[in-house]
Amino acid sequence: MRDLIERLYREQTLPPDKLRTLLTCCDDEHLSLIRQKACEVAQTHFGNSIYIRGLIEIGNCCRNDCYYCGIRCSNRAIERYRLDKEDILACCREGYALGFRTFVMQGGEDSRSHDEQMIDIITTIRQHYPDVAITLSLGEKDTATYRRFYEAGANRYLLRHETHNEQHYRMLHPEKMSLSNRLRCLNDLKDIGFQTGTGIMVGSPGQTIDHLIEDILFIGDFRPQMIGIGPFLPHHDTPFADRPTGSLKQTLLLLAIFRLMHPKALIPSTTALATLVPDGRELGILSGANVVMPNLSPSQQRHKYALYDNKASMGAEAAEGLKLLEERMKAIGYIIDKSRGDYPGTSDPL
Ligand code: 5AD
Repeated sequence: MRDLIERLYREQTLPPDKLRTLLTCCDDEHLSLIRQKACEVAQTHFGNSIYIRGLIEIGNCCRNDCYYCGIRCSNRAIERYRLDKEDILACCREGYALGFRTFVMQGGEDSRSHDEQMIDIITTIRQHYPDVAITLSLGEKDTATYRRFYEAGANRYLLRHETHNEQHYRMLHPEKMSLSNRLRCLNDLKDIGFQTGTGIMVGSPGQTIDHLIEDILFIGDFRPQMIGIGPFLPHHDTPFADRPTGSLKQTLLLLAIFRLMHPKALIPSTTALATLVPDGRELGILSGANVVMPNLSPSQQRHKYALYDNKASMGAEAAEGLKLLEERMKAIGYIIDKSRGDYPGTSDPL
C-alpha cells in the first residue's frame, strides 16, 4: 500500500487494479499517509494559501428531477425563489467589500428566459468588477448559451458529471437526462475556454468501487481545472430520503487521490463535507483541498437552497463569518488568500 501511494505521488496515475486496491484496502494509517502526501503536493503549488469564493445561490427553480437533490422539480414541499438582478448585485457588492474576488453563481436548471437574465447580470458584474472571476454553476445548457455566458464575461463553470457509469447515471437521474448530454456540456465548456470543474458525490446510492474507478479515470482523462467532491447526504423529500450518507473516510481518500493525480487543480473542501462533520472543512483541506466557498446568498433565503438536509450555511460557512473561517484555517496552519485564484498558468484571466 505504501508503494502504491508513493507511485501515485510520483506518476500521478495508477492502473485500474491498483486504484481498486487503494480504494478497498486503505486502513487508517495509509489514509493518513496519502492525505499527508496530498497536502505536500497542494503546498508545492499553493503554499499554505486557501482560496475563497463567494457562493451566491441565485435560485432553486429547477426543471430536473434528480433523485438525490432537494430542489428537484417534484419536490412540492419547498418554497421556490429566484434572486433578481438587484439582489445578486447586492451580494456582489457585499462580497467585494469583504475581499472576495471570485463569485460563484449557482442555481437550479432554470428556463431559457432566465438564461437571458443571467447574460445581462454577468455583463453587469463584469462591468462593475473587471477584476473578479465569475464562476457559473447553472447546469446543462446548449452550446450557444454557454458561449454567450462566456462572451458576457463568465470565466469558469462547474458541472459535476455525478457518475461516469451509464447504469449508475440511470439510477440517479430520470429518463430524460443523459450522461452523454452531460459529457457534451463538459466538452463544450472546455472548448469555449471556461476553466471547467466536474466531480461526483461520494457514496451516492448505487455507487460501487468500479464506478469510482471509472470516475477517477474519466477525470484523469478530462483534466478539469476544478474538481468538486463531497459526500452524498440524503434530503427528506426525495426518493433517496432513507439512503445512508456517504462515508467521511472515503471522501477524504478520494480528495487525496484527486490531489495526487491533479497537482494544480482547484479542489474545494465542500459544504457537504462541512455538513457531514463539524470539522469537515479542515479535514478536506488536510486531505489536499485548497478552496473554500463561503455562502454570500441573502441569509433569509439560504434555507431554501436545500440540496440535502441540515446544509451548513452559517458561521464559518457564511461570507459574514469570514473572520471565523480565517481563525479556523489559521488553527490548522493555513491562511485565506483573497486573490481570484485562477488555475495556475491560465493566460489572460481578465
Ligand atoms: N448530497 C450531496 N450533494 C448533493 N448535490 C445535490 N444533491 C446532493 C445531495 N443530496 C450536489 C450534486 C450537484 C451539486 C450542485 O450538489 O453533486 O452537482
